[in-house]
Amino acid sequence: MNEVLIEGRRLRLRRANVTDLNYIMTLQFTPENLKFIVPFNREYHHAIIASDGSEKLDVIVEELDSGSSVGYFMLRKMDSPCVEFTHVIIGRKGLGYGREALNLLLKWAFEMKDFHRVWIDCKDYNKIVLHLYESLGFVREGFLREYLLTNGVYENLIVLGMLDREYFSTD
Ligand SMILES: CC(C)(COP(=O)(O)OP(=O)(O)OC[C@H]1O[C@@H](n2cnc3c(N)ncnc32)[C@H](O)[C@@H]1OP(=O)(O)O)[C@@H](O)C(=O)NCCC(=O)NCCS
Repeated sequence: MNEVLIEGRRLRLRRANVTDLNYIMTLQFTPENLKFIVPFNREYHHAIIASDGSEKLDVIVEELDSGSSVGYFMLRKMDSPCVEFTHVIIGRKGLGYGREALNLLLKWAFEMKDFHRVWIDCKDYNKIVLHLYESLGFVREGFLREYLLTNGVYENLIVLGMLDREYFSTD
């Protein structure tokens, strides 16, 4: 039985299960996604899926019409007031699914789960996702200089956050 977090106009967010592992691994290691994320291995995802889901969650973004998987997120630190969204990946790009899925995830986090704060990070040159995060209301909070070593090159990370009162003030 798939545990549904929330449904929207076109998409459903549901907890991943073992049958989603191939999809999650493929999405992470697709070159156009891999350059913007730090992938985890299959065992790591398997452990998240097998866990009680109280601290980390692997989430599948699914089209309501077709039932197909179109993206994947990971949530971390769910046992604190400050949840982290990470591994934001949409497989079917450019259809507005990223915006819709993140809006649903914010609604779930603040309206259904009462988190105080949501935070997220991205590489400083990931202009598409920076535009998306900021247009959703995330605020730039930090700049971690030369934080990630990728193929011998140190890369900068931008940290963004949204507080519950900021989320509710945009209604
Ligand atoms: C970033 C990502 C999640 C966005 O998902 P998406 O479904 O393609 O995005 P959407 O269609 O919802 O578009 C969101 C915004 O980005 C813009 N955008 C999307 N693709 C774009 C592109 N190729 N060039 C420029 N802008 C683009 C859209 O115009 C839209 O902005 P707008 O509403 O102001 O017009 C997706 O591209 C992705 O998986 N990228 C690779 C992994 C990644 O970078 N993850 C983030 C890690 S922090």
